[in-house]
Amino acid sequence: MSVQVRQMVKSFGAFRAIDDLSVTFQSGKISVLLGASGCGKTTTLRCIAGLENPNGGEIRIEDEPVFSSARGIDLPPEKRRLGMVFQSYAVWPHLTVKGNVGMPLRAQNVPKEQIERRVQETLAIVGLSEQAEKSAMKLSGGQQQRVSIVFHRTGPTPKDEALQWSGWAVVR
Ligand SMILES: Nc1ncnc2c1ncn2[C@@H]1O[C@H](COP(=O)(O)OP(=O)(O)O)[C@@H](O)[C@H]1O
Ligand SMILES: [Mg+2]
Repeated sequence: MSVQVRQMVKSFGAFRAIDDLSVTFQSGKISVLLGASGCGKTTTLRCIAGLENPNGGEIRIEDEPVFSSARGIDLPPEKRRLGMVFQSYAVWPHLTVKGNVGMPLRAQNVPKEQIERRVQETLAIVGLSEQAEKSAMKLSGGQQQRVSIVFHRTGPTPKDEALQWSGWAVVR
């Protein structure tokens, strides 16, 4: 799944955090945004995910515009079919490990048996099967990171900040 950003601008008040950014993230490749602290990496990912509203430009996912200032398009995050792993784990504290990992699938109204199967498969990949029924807050930092990574997606998964854990999985 490719992501194209064209002439994106994002300001916070008078401060221009992103100034005319154009970049293509190619399908099947791992891309890294590298730059000094405060240069706009997180803001870029948040704009792609639909968590920030750019002031101008266009964002396409698989060639479909998900944001376009010129055409008045702004798809909400849940319609963009991608996920974001936050710098902090963003694990839901009131849910079990299984509850966390299955949540996006529930949001997409995937049938219950399918959710169960996909959650179990994914937890096995990241070695968390034993922890499935535990509260996510009871996990170690590294385990929480894995939960947040498999808190999955049907598309590319922008990750903010390098993660200590070198593997990751996608639930399709
Ligand atoms: N919600 C916000 N309100 C005001 N300024 C912000 C906001 N979010 C980010 N910024 C500013 O935008 C710039 C880019 O921030 P960010 O994208 O978080 O940088 P980084 O490259 O370190 O991830 C920084 O100067 C930051 O202070
Ligand atoms: Mg950042």
